[in-house]
Amino acid sequence: MDESKKGRLRRFQVQVAAWTSIAVLMGAVWISISPPATTSASPQCRCFPGDKCWPDAAEWASLNNSVDGRLIATVPVAAVCHDGFPGVEYDAEKCAEARANWLRPELHYQTMHSPMAPFFANMSCDPFTPRDAQCVIGAYVPFAVNAFTSAHYKTTISFATKHNIRLVIRNTGHDYMGKSTGAGALALWTHNIKHRKVIDYQSKAYTGKALRVGAGVQAFEAQNTANAAGLVVVEGRCPTVGFAGGYTQGGGTSPLGSKFGLAADQVLEWEVVTARGDLLTATPDENADLYWALAGGGGGTYGVVLSMTVKAHKNFPTAGATLTFVEPTDKYWDIVQAFLLNTPAVLKEGGTLYWMVMPGNTFYMPQSYLPDGMATDLEALLLPTIDALDQAGIEYTFKTADYPNFQDVLKTTNAEHDIVEINLGGRIIPSSLFNNNNNNNNNTVASLTGAIRNIVDNGGLVAGVSMAPSRTPESPNSAHPAWRSSSLFVFLGSPHDRKNMTANIVMQNVVTEEFMAPLERITPEGGAYLNEAALNQADFQHAFYGSNYPKLLSIKKKNDPDGIFWGPTAVGRLRLDP
Ligand SMILES: Cc1cc2nc3c(=O)[nH]c(=O)nc-3n(C[C@H](O)[C@H](O)[C@H](O)COP(=O)(O)OP(=O)(O)OC[C@H]3O[C@@H](n4cnc5c(N)ncnc54)[C@H](O)[C@@H]3O)c2cc1C
Ligand SMILES: *[C@@H]1O[C@H](CO)[C@@H](O)[C@H](O)[C@H]1NC(C)=O
Ligand SMILES: *[C@@H]1O[C@H](CO)[C@@H](O)[C@H](O)[C@H]1NC(C)=O
Ligand SMILES: *[C@@H]1O[C@H](CO)[C@@H](O)[C@H](O)[C@H]1NC(C)=O
Ligand SMILES: *[C@@H]1O[C@H](CO)[C@@H](O)[C@H](O)[C@H]1NC(C)=O
Repeated sequence: MDESKKGRLRRFQVQVAAWTSIAVLMGAVWISISPPATTSASPQCRCFPGDKCWPDAAEWASLNNSVDGRLIATVPVAAVCHDGFPGVEYDAEKCAEARANWLRPELHYQTMHSPMAPFFANMSCDPFTPRDAQCVIGAYVPFAVNAFTSAHYKTTISFATKHNIRLVIRNTGHDYMGKSTGAGALALWTHNIKHRKVIDYQSKAYTGKALRVGAGVQAFEAQNTANAAGLVVVEGRCPTVGFAGGYTQGGGTSPLGSKFGLAADQVLEWEVVTARGDLLTATPDENADLYWALAGGGGGTYGVVLSMTVKAHKNFPTAGATLTFVEPTDKYWDIVQAFLLNTPAVLKEGGTLYWMVMPGNTFYMPQSYLPDGMATDLEALLLPTIDALDQAGIEYTFKTADYPNFQDVLKTTNAEHDIVEINLGGRIIPSSLFNNNNNNNNNTVASLTGAIRNIVDNGGLVAGVSMAPSRTPESPNSAHPAWRSSSLFVFLGSPHDRKNMTANIVMQNVVTEEFMAPLERITPEGGAYLNEAALNQADFQHAFYGSNYPKLLSIKKKNDPDGIFWGPTAVGRLRLDP
């Protein structure tokens, strides 16, 4: 085989491997283009390890003392794969284990330093590089406070402020956008704040059951507690994502999105510590600006959440369905288009569909949900797609089932998945596109199908969340206004290259210029999801926050005038830009 063929084959294998995991997973991605955050990426010229201003051992020991001995120094999780890290011996067996589990979320979220998005680790201590390759703190946070109380929060914030060190809020490390990690930063690690309780809640806007959770509670833990009380909460598709962190604070898509709206729409109350160290309660009636910004305006930006209280809904039977077909000819794209045209009818009944168009003209819908509905209803709703398949004479596998409650279908069809390493992009697609079949206009389902085909034909990955979070929230929040009139979120990208960071930067540009641009042209009223987007998104302020940006920026300036909370693509990123 000649070299170029081998190269192509390798690329194909990488792709298929990525797709195999995305097929079961579809979301566990992360990436970015701009370099992992370092001092130079920080707009503030923060104090950096090695600088004269960097705290000495006695000062760190004193911080440790004042946070009850909960300061942790980073030992990279793959240090056992190398000789170089002080105090850690090379260990072939442990290294093999780290490699084998590298795509498991728990390997990373149980640490206070390792981001799931490999681009942001910048090969600082990589399990897949040779034994004699570097193993350094590099792009990782050097220290973290394993926080339990608001006093830990306050002490950590004031230490970072006093020493002019970058502060990072880290929960699980799932973030795709590099907002929960950073070179030279002190992390406030919230993962172990695990309290959770079902309560009866009463406010002007809401009377009913609610779930109060500590900052470190993960989706599966929240859902288990709700389920035990006959309730459901709105969570995403990955059971280990943090419930009160970047997910809900960034908006939060969900299998229950068409029924109850976004995760951010469920929030009744935040307990939050501000940059000044004040512990506040933020509700629609009290510290209302902060409440509004924290619900949808992006994690790690306005304050550090200590607990969150969300609506808990009465549980219900839920129907699920799966669909797969393969069709080598162009008829495949007719069916994909028929499916897309079919989706609004399902969303209208409160259903949410997760699907992928994969290489080899393979369509896969691994999960779909009709909350408070029956399998026969879901079958009837998807009949137009099935009819189109029958008429085209294409074989398919279509299965539906009834589950006694929501968590049963979630656990059955949405097991924990591996991390998918990808150069990411994404777009919120307006409902108007689905109502528009005027061929003189390019804002149509046919154009959408074409834009999706363009991505797949060029080696990209596409996964869709057909969801309509259009319910007007009783307590308005700062989630992107584009969600309110949307019927689809498209998640896309190209496989991450583990060996060559430059190649990822090149591919990220392909993602934005060749995959995203056509989608953007046909969705001028759309937007991008701040948690699942291209890090080099042009005019991210408008794309991620829409018309909310100016108000979010003013709330940011008021509550964090010195920009203590900072992250790439967070509001106020550019030194509290003009
Ligand atoms: C496998 C996978 C599946 C996913 N599925 C979905 C999905 O179905 N729906 C969806 O909407 N999203 C999904 N996401 C995206 C997810 O919502 C974001 O990655 C989110 O940022 C994760 O939040 P976290 O708190 O768990 O992670 P982290 O990486 O720890 O933090 C993310 C951000 O939140 C901030 N933050 C964390 N805790 C706090 C706190 N207590 N106070 C203030 N700021 C805080 C951090 O500073 C950072 O900016 C998925 C991601 C992955 C990797
Ligand atoms: C990434 O790592 C390389 C190699 O160690 C280093 O030269 C570069 O400065 C790092 N980049 C960032 C942004 O940290
Ligand atoms: C902080 O103190 C605890 C308890 O004394 C100790 O175990 C831990 O190693 C210290 N952390 C650091 C970074 O020195
Ligand atoms: C890394 O990728 C870049 C960009 O695609 C390419 O030019 C370079 O040759 C690659 N380096 C290696 C060692 O393969
Ligand atoms: C769609 O139409 C708009 C305006 O009519 C035009 O600017 C854009 O280039 C078109 N997009 C495509 C993909 O043809």
